Amino acid sequence: MSYLNATNDLYKEAALTPDVGLCCTTNPVWQFPGLSIPKIMQEMNYGCGSTVSAQDLVNNPKVLYVGVGGGMELLQFSYFSRQKGGVTGVDVVDEMLEASKKNFKIAEEENTWFKSEFVDLVKGDALNLPVASESIDVAAQNCLFNIFKAEDLQKAVSEMYRVLKPHGRLVMSDPICEQPMNDELRNDDRLRALCLSGSIPMKDYIKALTDAGFGTIEIRARKSYRVLSPNHYPTEELVYIESIEIAAIKDPMPADGPCVFTGKTAIYYGDEQYFDDKNGHVLMQNQPLAVCDKTAAALAKANDQIHISESTWHYNGGGCC
Ligand SMILES: C[S@@+](CC[C@H](N)C(=O)[O-])C[C@H]1O[C@@H](n2cnc3c(N)ncnc32)[C@H](O)[C@@H]1O
Repeated sequence: MSYLNATNDLYKEAALTPDVGLCCTTNPVWQFPGLSIPKIMQEMNYGCGSTVSAQDLVNNPKVLYVGVGGGMELLQFSYFSRQKGGVTGVDVVDEMLEASKKNFKIAEEENTWFKSEFVDLVKGDALNLPVASESIDVAAQNCLFNIFKAEDLQKAVSEMYRVLKPHGRLVMSDPICEQPMNDELRNDDRLRALCLSGSIPMKDYIKALTDAGFGTIEIRARKSYRVLSPNHYPTEELVYIESIEIAAIKDPMPADGPCVFTGKTAIYYGDEQYFDDKNGHVLMQNQPLAVCDKTAAALAKANDQIHISESTWHYNGGGCC
């Protein structure tokens, strides 16, 4: 049986019997005016962060959500879009589609503004999306892509790239791991499906996105996720896993490579009113400017009176690349 079949089986189980400890997020339950998230959706929250940000949801975006789980994030996206078919949910597991459909009915009872018709549920595979090219403004996935092995991850990312409109954005939350993992962990299909042994270093994750063509990357959050300890898992050393929230924007690829924002800021503290690098970046004296890592490195070289902050892993827009 391939690891993809093992994954489908695991999520069939998780659809039929909610598993509160499967995946997990430290994000608080959303408290927004008029929004009630049904208990069953919270119990079936199989994500590891949030992919829903108001900043992505201007101008009535057409939203695609791949790997629906209990439907919580689709409800959250609908909170902003509030239109028939505004959100399309794709999942390969029939039982998960059925479970989320039931959960949307409960959500309808708890939320006067919500109608199940706001969400179109479609059976389909992340590796071959049943979605037209360039038809989506915001595509999302939470805690699914980390399960995929390298070749499948590249396929899944390329599919998201294909369906997005130019300048559309792919928003994601996934575990990452900076340590090497042994083969026993890597080849354990169940641990992989549980989002525990498929995660890769952040730079490899970003590379999969930029290799697909995404020209701008934003790291929006980086948090503690799990440890795999020798007393519970087949490992001789403690393996530390984090989760990230990340957006990949379908901007054209700059000639000098992708713009990756990790939360760095540049501040010019020289004697002039401003510093102009003649490459599109003007730094007013003693005012912070969010910059991508590429620009941070170039500015540090160009002028020794610029302070460059460390990556905060908390970038939420603005600045220059
Ligand atoms: C870890 S759960 C995450 C669920 C949801 N995103 C959340 O945050 O609660 C993974 C989801 O992806 C679905 N899934 C697994 N393999 C898939 C595939 N190849 N294509 C689409 N969905 C898939 C599972 O059925 C499940 O709903």
